[in-house]
Amino acid sequence: MPDFLEISEIAAKDLRLILENAKKAKLAQAGQPKGYMDAGLPLHDTVVALIFEKHSTRTRLSFDVGVRQMGGQSIVLSTADMHRSRGETIKDTALMLSRYVDLIMIRTFADEILREFVAHSTVPVINGLTDYSHPCQIMADVMTFEEKAGPINGKKVVWIGNGNNVCTSFLHAAGQFGFNFAFCGPKGLDPDKNAVAFAKAQGSEVTIKRDPFSAVVDADLIVTDAWVSMHEDAGEETLKQLHSFQVNSQLLSRAKDNVIFMHCLPAHREEEVTSEVLDGPNSVVLDEAENRLHVQKSIMKWCLRKL
Ligand code: CP
Ligand code: NVA
Repeated sequence: MPDFLEISEIAAKDLRLILENAKKAKLAQAGQPKGYMDAGLPLHDTVVALIFEKHSTRTRLSFDVGVRQMGGQSIVLSTADMHRSRGETIKDTALMLSRYVDLIMIRTFADEILREFVAHSTVPVINGLTDYSHPCQIMADVMTFEEKAGPINGKKVVWIGNGNNVCTSFLHAAGQFGFNFAFCGPKGLDPDKNAVAFAKAQGSEVTIKRDPFSAVVDADLIVTDAWVSMHEDAGEETLKQLHSFQVNSQLLSRAKDNVIFMHCLPAHREEEVTSEVLDGPNSVVLDEAENRLHVQKSIMKWCLRKL
């Protein structure tokens, strides 16, 4: 059964299938209490392990609630409480977990850890964020954009700030869903070269810009993220450079009136984004967070061949 590791590694038609199913499932849940169970209880025979080697609020909640709504059972594990933190190897952990559960979501550090885990797991694995990427988030973001503004194909996404893990998955999605992507941030924080090459090879226009005020002019979507991710330790100099890349009202006033603003959250208010923008009319951050639930339910079913 398939793993869900990178948007770039999954056929575009499967990504679209996942989104279409998520839309239908969201509609079926609309207006119901959060514990309302999905028709047919697609995960009624399934146990899912949710492993967190880093902090999480949204990913933890959305996966756990999603499993419950589909009639499955979830076990949330923090590395701090597991023997992993006392030296048990990734290999042994993956081999053993596969004997207890049917599906594993893991949030971890280096991409190599994820890959080693996958190499030894005998059940499908979902990437719940690594230092390199955050594919579940961007699936939810594409879903959110299309809910608000129609097909993302041919649209222009402008990323402001640090070319980090979330940016990498946006570039993968640009290639797979056919949108154009401009990165705008300080030179030392440019996005991953392989992700840029992937998007370009798939036919997306990818540009690197340094001036946020000109970069946002033709944007359909403006995205930013924390200046410093969980795995990073930015120095004073980097932070100083990032200050001119804050998403604020002045910047938004240069963009189209109906431009959409996204942030995967958690946000650092008045750092990468002002409260005025985050809570303002262009912001869809809560819809992004909600859609994590719907899209990840669909991803789990896809991994278990239940879509
Ligand atoms: N956006 C996101 O993945 O949030 P958490 O870190 O809270 O899971
Ligand atoms: N780029 C952030 C995303 C958090 C959801 C991080 O990796 O910390």
